[in-house]
Amino acid sequence: MPLVPASVTLAAPAKINLFLEVTGRRSDGFHGLETVFQTIELHDTVQVEVVPAEPGSDQPQNRIALSCDDPSLPVDQRNLAWRAAAAYLSLHPFGQVAITLSKRIPHGAGLGGGSSDAATVLRALALHDPAPPDLFGLAAGLGSDVPFFLLGGTAHATGRGEILAALPDLPDLPITVLMPEGASCPTPAIFAALTDDERGPRPARGADWWRAALASVTVAGFGPLLTNRLTEPAVRCCPAVGKLLEVLHKRGDTVWMTGSGAACVVLGVVEPPPATRAWPTRLRRRSRLDALN
Ligand code: C5P
Repeated sequence: MPLVPASVTLAAPAKINLFLEVTGRRSDGFHGLETVFQTIELHDTVQVEVVPAEPGSDQPQNRIALSCDDPSLPVDQRNLAWRAAAAYLSLHPFGQVAITLSKRIPHGAGLGGGSSDAATVLRALALHDPAPPDLFGLAAGLGSDVPFFLLGGTAHATGRGEILAALPDLPDLPITVLMPEGASCPTPAIFAALTDDERGPRPARGADWWRAALASVTVAGFGPLLTNRLTEPAVRCCPAVGKLLEVLHKRGDTVWMTGSGAACVVLGVVEPPPATRAWPTRLRRRSRLDALN
């Protein structure tokens, strides 16, 4: 019987961090975090086509073909989506995997675009697999933010970001993601720029605290919860982020930085200041994780 390729196309949503605290430096070189992740409607699209394995198939690295509509991104093992497919293939002998990425999420933004693409490749491959492996284990090996994208919606995270507790969905509030033109914040550089004081250690509030706080929050009461310990190091590394935050604060917007920057988030739909890129979008509920519309 001929081997029939099967294809699936899924959305890979961006995330924002509603809150991010550094709880200390760990012996493995990473930082302990407490964060509240939230998927948003801004998304990449990931198409994954698989051909079932024939006996005696080649090495995994020869069986992955990645293409991407953003020529600035690599399409080999330097791309996390490629590494996600390789990790899956090391456990499950698909014949060939062809991945097509349509990029919309800016990089160097703290929006988790690469991590989301990688998690979406894992989810797509699992849809073709009668006995999928533990995707959370694979995802945690790929990067700190990757496991969250298997879950989506609103979630509390500790550890490096991989110990997750789902939180109830928030209303699908409108937001605007803003980024200074040309700005980019490499995650390792921002963590490396933390001062000893900023690094902690300090205790986490815990998932139950966040569940209660978010259950009773009003839009007006949301602002004080939205803090990010990585803001100061990101502003030191990329002063344009500090300028953008200042302009938005001054005009009365509820604004905060996501992840390690350089993107900032404003509640509501707002006009971008000069020299700023803007993506008007909404929070994305867990039930819409894969939705393409
Ligand atoms: O896990 P990920 O590949 O996203 O991490 C990129 C870099 O960010 C790490 O190599 C580390 O320097 C820093 N990081 C950290 N603590 C975390 C997450 C990331 O120090 N919890």
